[in-house]
Amino acid sequence: MPAATLPPARTPGQYAVALVCLGNICRSPMADVVLSDRVAAAGLADRVTVESCGTGDWHVGRRMDHRAAATLTSAGYNATRHRAQQLDDSWAERFDVLLAMDASNLAGTRSAASADGGAGERALLFRTFDPVDPGGEVPDPYYGGDSGFEEVLAMVERTTEVIVAALEQVLGSSGDRRGDRS
Ligand code: 4NP
Repeated sequence: MPAATLPPARTPGQYAVALVCLGNICRSPMADVVLSDRVAAAGLADRVTVESCGTGDWHVGRRMDHRAAATLTSAGYNATRHRAQQLDDSWAERFDVLLAMDASNLAGTRSAASADGGAGERALLFRTFDPVDPGGEVPDPYYGGDSGFEEVLAMVERTTEVIVAALEQVLGSSGDRRGDRS
């Protein structure tokens, strides 16, 4: 099966990734922290922006769920900077790709994109890029135990490696590589 690819950059040489879940306190903030970490490690921080949001409004302005934060902290990440945001029509306009954690989040993201006049083709399931089991959902760990958060982190870490490779590819083919400018 060919590797999954990201939609083309809207601005050559720059790429904006949105991560979408329901509450924006568990899954998409974990993916946001891990992807931001790997983007920085790949030297892409000045070209790739990463943000996350939820389709629901219950937790707007709050920090990450304490279990999500503890799981990230134990694995060596900084989980302190997150504040929850809610998806609205502007996200489809601002981001090159919107990666949804489950099918319900994807439907919400596509509906926000169509309200903005977009066809929603920039909205995909996050696990489209999962190298082990592509195309599945990231299960909601909110009502479960700590092991659910460990499972989310494992899925997020392996999927993020493929997303970073896809970012390098889409930026490399967008015709504005550093050092190529004359
Ligand atoms: P998330 O998890 O979508 O991964 O952030 C949830 C967080 C909060 C709720 C549901 C899911 N909630 O119902 O408040």
